[in-house]
Amino acid sequence: MARTQHEGAPNAVRLGRGRSKRRLGPARLRSYFEATPLASLRSPLMTVLGVDIGGSGIKAALVDVEKGVLVTERERVKTPKPSSPEAVGEVVRQLHKRFDGPERVGICFPAVVRHGVTLSAANVDDSWIGAPAREIFSRILGVEVAMLNDADAAGIAEEKFGAAADHDGVVLLLTLGTGIGSALIVDGRLVPNTELGHLELDGHDPVESWASSKVRKTEQLSYEEWGPRVGVLLRHLDMLFSPDLFIIGGGISKKFHRFSEFLGTDPPVVPATMGNQAGIVGAAMAATQT
Ligand code: BGC
Repeated sequence: MARTQHEGAPNAVRLGRGRSKRRLGPARLRSYFEATPLASLRSPLMTVLGVDIGGSGIKAALVDVEKGVLVTERERVKTPKPSSPEAVGEVVRQLHKRFDGPERVGICFPAVVRHGVTLSAANVDDSWIGAPAREIFSRILGVEVAMLNDADAAGIAEEKFGAAADHDGVVLLLTLGTGIGSALIVDGRLVPNTELGHLELDGHDPVESWASSKVRKTEQLSYEEWGPRVGVLLRHLDMLFSPDLFIIGGGISKKFHRFSEFLGTDPPVVPATMGNQAGIVGAAMAATQT
């Protein structure tokens, strides 16, 4: 079975330097559909099903991978509990069917993904550890799928179409959500599976259990209280990687203006621009690498 170049490959994947920043709002989305014959929407080269599996929701949409935009509404289904491979596989099967069973599918997942095997399970069922995830999904869907880590997917999407589209050098994206995901991109190449949310920092092991967006909510922290925690992490990562740019992703990126002043970091820190779509777009992009 073919492998994506992302999955733990010794040579990280070249992402290309596309600079498209077009977005499709609801009106333009409608006119896109009206103007574009369905057959071309389903062209396997252009349009790919991107699936973003998370601890609380599974999101999917068809993606125009050349423009980096969703060409359908995004579907969201709650992640089943327990989130076993069988249960998650069934949800993904239904989503795939709802989009008319496209032949190209990319899936991102909140775990280390090497050669299509999920090697960790921070916010999903433990039975994913060591599971041949790519094979499982390919069998269930009847098409080959590409798989990669969810933050890596967001990173390649932001790198090509979003906040990092004009940046070379070292870019570090952090997704602050249920956990903390990371994507390290060096001159347009992804270094996969960095998992920086699992670092131990100042006795917080893993640091995501202290600085994630979920922790802000569960501990009812104000942005003034929580922002400095993110700042501690950013300064540590600055010391380790000296990035040229930090990108803050995840749903919280929309609230960036509420905590940016509490971060206190040297390299520029910017919010992601693709919001919750970045994972879906990046997953779809990975499917074009097979
Ligand atoms: C997982 C990562 C994931 C991140 C964001 C972490 O707990 O270990 O693989 O990227 O959460 O979902």
